[in-house]
Amino acid sequence: MTIYDATPYLDGNFAPVADEVTATNLVVTGSIPAELVGRFVRNGPNPRAIPDVDKHHWFLGEGMVHGIRLGGGKAQWYRNRYVAPQESGAFGPNTHVIGHAGKTLAIVEGGPLPVELDDELNFVGTTTLGGLPSGFSAHPKLDPITGELHAAAYHWPDQVDKIHYVVVDAEGTVSKSIAIPAPKMPMIHDMALTQNYAAIFDLPVAVNFDMAMDGYTFPMAWDREYESRVGLIPRTASTSDEIIWCEVDPIWVYHPMNSYDREDGAVVIDVCEYDSMFDSDRNGPLRDAPPRLSRWIVDPSTQKVTRETIDDRTQEFPRVNDAVATLPYRYGYTSGGDLDTHDWFASTVKHDMDAQTRTVREHGDGREPGEPVFVAREGATAEDDGWLMMYVYDRGRDSTDFVILDATDITGDEVARIELPQRVPNGFHGSWIPDE
Ligand SMILES: [Fe+2]
Repeated sequence: MTIYDATPYLDGNFAPVADEVTATNLVVTGSIPAELVGRFVRNGPNPRAIPDVDKHHWFLGEGMVHGIRLGGGKAQWYRNRYVAPQESGAFGPNTHVIGHAGKTLAIVEGGPLPVELDDELNFVGTTTLGGLPSGFSAHPKLDPITGELHAAAYHWPDQVDKIHYVVVDAEGTVSKSIAIPAPKMPMIHDMALTQNYAAIFDLPVAVNFDMAMDGYTFPMAWDREYESRVGLIPRTASTSDEIIWCEVDPIWVYHPMNSYDREDGAVVIDVCEYDSMFDSDRNGPLRDAPPRLSRWIVDPSTQKVTRETIDDRTQEFPRVNDAVATLPYRYGYTSGGDLDTHDWFASTVKHDMDAQTRTVREHGDGREPGEPVFVAREGATAEDDGWLMMYVYDRGRDSTDFVILDATDITGDEVARIELPQRVPNGFHGSWIPDE
């Protein structure tokens, strides 16, 4: 049996890299916009050791961040660093890295505290953000109007009977925390936020105690008996009694693209949804069902969720302009997939929700783009006036480029391409963190 038979999640560009590199002489093609001054940083799992290939899960492994610093129209450096050095003893959160209140934070769900990184991606220490009750989330949602982060957090195995809805204020301190009873210990990867509600996805992936007993360190599996629901928490709520639970079909979601309040009081949530997750594939998300883009209408008056497919082609890693988060919006961006290659990373897709059209950028033979991060141009008036930034793995040279596209014209020439001195393994989420 090859490693691939046990898990494709260690093969090809899923394999970890060994070295922490600092590079300053980077080859640039095109022209880096001079107004981009800051860092693009992306997180992903990079296990130091694989104890058991059969039970290894892609979502496990120490976090490693890969960053590029831009300024003055130049690529000033590339750096990759383990989120936490081995000697620190801290778990290195491996799923997302964000800038908030002047801090760079590596984050993950399930219990581990956020890790603060310095401007050159070195470990500073773990942080409770002034009062996290149960770890944090990889996907705190930004309210661009208040500057707050809203998150749904859970803690396996320390708190198996509840999750927490947490608000972190614009200064970076926990300002609210509500415990929500959760009898079956669901996996909560992300959440949705509107101006009126925080929405909790209580969906059928939950702790499987047989797997936990059997030594799986990621004991999450599809649960056929699960009662799926979406919880709308009024943002003014102070207790879990105020949650409006709405029934939804058994379906799985990692990520909403965006969400907002409709004038009739319903909540619109656009998501990448799956018919099942961790049912036959216990090593990662690729081999059960492909994700499609769908619109969920969550109606607090009927307590029901209706679903409609927007685009049934495989896609993940939905992003929008942060300025339209929680609000009605027109444009969304995803990574388009190709299940024949067990891959979410085949193209970059731009959706126009108003025109109901999509534009697909192929990156060339053997070139595999990761999550597209939208960066607005300063003073922009159009929602898509800005850039998409992403890492693109080049199979031919077994290395990775950092690519900037014009978000108004994603099939046009690359704005800039920066060749990196090593591979950036397939990973998860990242951010553009501009200098203050
Ligand atoms: Fe995610």
